[in-house]
Amino acid sequence: MGKKILLCFGTRPEAIKMCSLVHQLRNSQFDVEVCVTAQHREMLDQVLSFFEIQPEYDLDIMKPNQSLNELCSRIFIKFDEVLNLVKPDLVLVHGDTTTSSVCAWAAFHKGIKVGHVEAGLRTYNKYAPFPEELNRQITGRIADFHFAPTQKSRENLISEHVSPKSIAVTGNTVIDSLLWTVNKLEKGFTNPKIDEIKSKVDFSKKVILVTGHRRENFGDGFLNICKALGNIASDENVEIVFPVHLNPNVQEPVMRLLSDYKNIHLFEPLDYPSFVWMMSQSYLIITDSGGVQEEAPSLGKPVLVMRETTERPEAVEAGTVCLVGTDAELIFSKANDLLRNNESYDNMSKSYNPYGDGKANEKILEFLIQNL
Ligand code: UD1
Ligand code: UDP
Repeated sequence: MGKKILLCFGTRPEAIKMCSLVHQLRNSQFDVEVCVTAQHREMLDQVLSFFEIQPEYDLDIMKPNQSLNELCSRIFIKFDEVLNLVKPDLVLVHGDTTTSSVCAWAAFHKGIKVGHVEAGLRTYNKYAPFPEELNRQITGRIADFHFAPTQKSRENLISEHVSPKSIAVTGNTVIDSLLWTVNKLEKGFTNPKIDEIKSKVDFSKKVILVTGHRRENFGDGFLNICKALGNIASDENVEIVFPVHLNPNVQEPVMRLLSDYKNIHLFEPLDYPSFVWMMSQSYLIITDSGGVQEEAPSLGKPVLVMRETTERPEAVEAGTVCLVGTDAELIFSKANDLLRNNESYDNMSKSYNPYGDGKANEKILEFLIQNL
């Protein structure tokens, strides 16, 4: 019997970034099992279905409008039972969610090794992103193996006295998943959602894709975002496509303030291939998402990031991503500039891939073969 690896994840972005790794590891000498916490339900299931992954364990913990402490306590209790059953040699977690830090911590309590995929990203501001910055730091303290997507994330870990031998720079698995999906789309993959979007959105106009969900933007931040989008939509040559995150703190203001615009199209969260297709068809992306900041530069799409700070500075430095916070005026004026000024647009729309070459999963496997 090979060594046993248990991969744990619970939200949409973790699933997108871990499912291609599950396939890579299942095709290796390791004995591989998957546990989803289901911190997200529908948005997780969309991804599992596209990547054809059936988890061995599903903790099914999501509750409407869950608090962070409820979430932690449910994961601790239910994941403990899974660890008792599986007895893995290694638990692999991803990124900065409550699922990843609690699963890492629970494994540590049982003396089980932890590998952290997407390690070493930092803002060093514990309130932005909240609670993700601290989640990621906690998992970084616990982990035995660190899979850093870039040199910069490796340097962050080294500066925190993490042993260089325990770090591998792999690129981000998000690019593996993205390239795999783009390839499927190029070979003709389609689905009813893509057809629905085509029937509702006028693609002869400039299409802006929007997403948002950060906790630190709840309240005034989202009110400002809606105001900015309303102003941008006053230009009839623009179409806005906004798949609205299922968090009630996002649903409520967005549905209340943006439902009545004929050129703002609100959708339920899109399944992953439909979202990738939508990114490829967009003129500009406005988001507070971490994953979208990594994907869009690979597709050559400019991104306005509705955050004050980012743990993903590589694309900002390359000029393809610009931080605009949640100031309604600034979002409007930057978007307006990109809609009207070709030079500004060309400067930001270079195709650039600081986050990987699609081989992150292979590199993670190689490291595990040598070190586990
Ligand atoms: C979570 C992560 C965040 C990640 C984001 C990705 C934490 C603390 N937050 O934030 O790091 O960037 O996911 O999207 O780990 N809901 C549903 N169905 C779903 C998903 C969510 O109804 O499929 C609703 C529920 O009411 C749920 C609420 O959204 O209680 C919040 O979900 P939660 O995972 O706590 O926070 P997110 O804002 O989604
Ligand atoms: N995404 C998706 N459908 C959507 C919006 C986003 O599949 O309607 C994908 C997107 O391609 C990216 C990931 O979800 O890979 C980002 O998730 P999210 O913004 O929720 O979380 P974050 O990356 O900020 O943690």
